[in-house]
Amino acid sequence: MRRKIVAGNWKMNGSKGLVSNLVGQVRSELASFDNGVEAVIIPPALFVDDVVEQAGKKLAVGVQNVACWSSGAYTGEISAAMAKDCGCGFTLVGHSERRQLFGETDEQVATKVEQALASGLVAVICVGETLEERDAGKAEDVVSRQVRKAVADVGNGLWQQVVIAYEPVWAIGTGKTATADDAQAMHAAIRAVLMSLGAPADEVSLLYGGSVKADNAAALFAQPDIDGGLIGGASLDASDFVSICRAVP
Ligand code: G3P
Repeated sequence: MRRKIVAGNWKMNGSKGLVSNLVGQVRSELASFDNGVEAVIIPPALFVDDVVEQAGKKLAVGVQNVACWSSGAYTGEISAAMAKDCGCGFTLVGHSERRQLFGETDEQVATKVEQALASGLVAVICVGETLEERDAGKAEDVVSRQVRKAVADVGNGLWQQVVIAYEPVWAIGTGKTATADDAQAMHAAIRAVLMSLGAPADEVSLLYGGSVKADNAAALFAQPDIDGGLIGGASLDASDFVSICRAVP
């Protein structure tokens, strides 16, 4: 049985006020149904403590990024071990905004995955092609390369800490979602890559991200290789986020 996960990536949004309004509401609404979904809130790191305090047991917490190093003179960075120490169970790694805006490379992504796993965090590895790459027929090659490089050093026994989120860059924050069929096809391709690497591919949860909303989540999550979602904008609204969590079959 693969884990069903819906994670809300707040990106650089929110405030202490949003934490107190949203987390309690999500927490109490989640208690009203049990479809086995693991809901995760991924706020800016400064709010992790507050979210952890209000999250309770049914709601997990994550960070959006970790450093390539475990500690030392790296001003402004946060280590995976620190996130774990503060109550996080998850971290995003290699989000397309980090790759595009901050020049994060496949090699850095692989190092961050290693850091996350060594610290006991679940690494949600983000992959996805740009519109140009899709139009050039290279989507699968790009995603396959990102997956191979990111998991190159994942050792046996650590795969249960690996989650892959397929987020086509052209669908992020644009209101354009991949069709359920296209998303399924890419998820199946990712699972095939994992299998070719000798990973326990059937046990690795694969999430879809990119303009997931309350009204399109069910169709996406009904696909056989889509095990949940990574949600941006819609995770900033408690009712929308809970509706998406509820859409997990
Ligand atoms: O990490 C989540 C993400 O990039 C998708 O954002 O706003 O399109 O749901 P959004």
